[in-house]
Amino acid sequence: MAPADPIMGVAADFNRDPNPNKINLSSGIFKDENDNTPILQSVKEAESRILQNETTKAYSGIEGFPAFAEAVLPFIFGKEHEVLSSQRAVTAHAPGGSGALRVVGDFVHKTSPGTTVWVSDPTWSNHIQIFNAAGLKVEKYPYFDVQSNGLAFEKMMAVLKNIPAGDAIILHGCCHNPTGVDPSLEQWKQIADLVHARDILPIIDFAYQGFGTGIREDAIGPLELIRPEKEALICGSFSKNFALYNERTGSVTAVARDQQTADVVMSQLKVVIRSIYSCPPAHGGIIVSTILNDPDLRKQWEAELKQMRDRINAMRHLLAETMTAKGIPGDSSFITQQKGMFSFSGLTPTQVQRLRDEYSIYIIGNGRINVAAVTPSNVIPLCDAIAAVI
Ligand code: LMR
Repeated sequence: MAPADPIMGVAADFNRDPNPNKINLSSGIFKDENDNTPILQSVKEAESRILQNETTKAYSGIEGFPAFAEAVLPFIFGKEHEVLSSQRAVTAHAPGGSGALRVVGDFVHKTSPGTTVWVSDPTWSNHIQIFNAAGLKVEKYPYFDVQSNGLAFEKMMAVLKNIPAGDAIILHGCCHNPTGVDPSLEQWKQIADLVHARDILPIIDFAYQGFGTGIREDAIGPLELIRPEKEALICGSFSKNFALYNERTGSVTAVARDQQTADVVMSQLKVVIRSIYSCPPAHGGIIVSTILNDPDLRKQWEAELKQMRDRINAMRHLLAETMTAKGIPGDSSFITQQKGMFSFSGLTPTQVQRLRDEYSIYIIGNGRINVAAVTPSNVIPLCDAIAAVI
């Protein structure tokens, strides 16, 4: 029997737990204050328009429908970005962020099979699995500093300085998974300088755009990596910011040195895609392009995205305050500094296991808490249990 997935396996264990007071803080899913993961109203409205207007289920292109790329490119880069006017960026609709990463993995393996992919320590567990499955070697660079609960920037740069030219590096665009710790803009600039000076291929995993500070604000740091004539790959996801989790909707974007090369890259991406899943499942992609391309729906969606972001930030403060009120040792304020869905709690694997066995509280084995699933009603039992196990 294969071992259970470190994230999805915990969510499956939660579902099997008969305790009516169980709490699920495992997989990265947004919950409202009533512990539901609602379908956004903008998505409902887009779906009703799609159902009414749809006349065929014929295949899209291998890369998805043109309206998807037309909507997603300015979403990632902003309308005025140079890569749009020079037409050196191309996008395909992929089945979720994981699907986009696998396309990138297969593409890198096909075009440059000896490439090592460098991931942060820690990183999202599926990164390692996906790139290994694509036949690539994976190595780690330092990222999280346990003492400060912040970025281990000096250590990270020291390792980046020695990454061989031609290797690839995964950088989380924002809302780092699992730590919630992102580089500052100045640090992004230094990372970008080094990555390009050393001729390392940047792969930006941009799964949480809009969940940090805002859609454009979250892109400022990672877009430092997009420099004239330099290449980059970007894996996007609409699972979180459109709450389209089970519709498997993501994007794979390649930035090439010029338009001609971008066309060649897209031709290669299409070969890769065709051999894995032929063309993407259409529904989620049509929802995203319908919303992004319609000013009213887009406004409604942006307001819903802000509501989700505001709720998570409110829960960060509530969690930190309740931990302090319950006498949990240490300064909990770092929780309010972290961005996105997750907080790296520092709980040990033994403490995580006790939370599960004794209190039916499910968090990931590395101590990652999904703050987006903390609610005013579960925060007190959660903090009581944490106080009891540490
Ligand atoms: C997570 O990290 O929990 C989410 O991205 C869900 C997943 O696919 O692992």
